[in-house]
Amino acid sequence: MNIVVATTSHFKYAQIICDTIADSAKVRGTGIAKRTPEYIRKKLENGNAVIALDGDTFSGFCYIEVWGHEKYVANSGLIVHPDYRSQGLAKKIKASIFKLSQEKFPEAKIFGITTGLPVMKINYELGYKPVTFSELTDDPEFWKGCQTCKNFDVLTRTDQKMCLCTGMLFDPATKSKKKTVNGKAFKRLKSIKESLFLKKRK
Ligand SMILES: CC(C)(COP(=O)(O)OP(=O)(O)OC[C@H]1O[C@@H](n2cnc3c(N)ncnc32)[C@H](O)[C@@H]1OP(=O)(O)O)[C@@H](O)C(=O)NCCC(=O)NCCS
Repeated sequence: MNIVVATTSHFKYAQIICDTIADSAKVRGTGIAKRTPEYIRKKLENGNAVIALDGDTFSGFCYIEVWGHEKYVANSGLIVHPDYRSQGLAKKIKASIFKLSQEKFPEAKIFGITTGLPVMKINYELGYKPVTFSELTDDPEFWKGCQTCKNFDVLTRTDQKMCLCTGMLFDPATKSKKKTVNGKAFKRLKSIKESLFLKKRK
């Protein structure tokens, strides 16, 4: 398995990356910000992504988004192809994009929003802390990305204060200690949020 900083030589993988992200969201039944192949190609062009390849076969991907004039970066679009899951690949991809983010944007706070326990676990281990949305970027372009998520109505209903996703932040100034996530507590929090925010749809 090769995990490398992606370049224009990986353009041919843009479509499969988008398809794998969209298919996984369908299977999980969760919301997701939609990505187009053009958007992915821009990331490859700018050297703001890592790709995992098994020979020539696409295995995983993640990219960097820059917000608020480089005050914040997000590591987004994490995807591991179903054939390569549960082997620690997401962990390696995340560690690689986290390192790239710190090299390219050493002053930036690194953040993400997620509904997924695996991602929470990985972020915790990298030193992220769970935070309220008010700690994240207020760049409207970032929040616009949520418009294609099926839970967007929740975000608007709460004036962008909270949603099904949990916000997580790594602040290079505080260098938070690495911890492990409490999976039980996270699942409980998620189910409370779902019963609070999704009640009206049932
Ligand atoms: C989420 C995803 C990236 C995980 O990829 P992966 O390569 O299977 O993950 P890893 O093998 O590196 O596992 C990382 C950690 O998450 C845990 N984990 C993996 N899948 C899990 C699941 N379905 N439920 C609970 N925990 C899970 C692993 O046990 C591991 O924790 P550990 O270190 O305590 O053992 C992959 O399932 C995926 O692409 N899903 C669809 C897209 C997605 O959800 N992206 C995240 C959007 S925020």
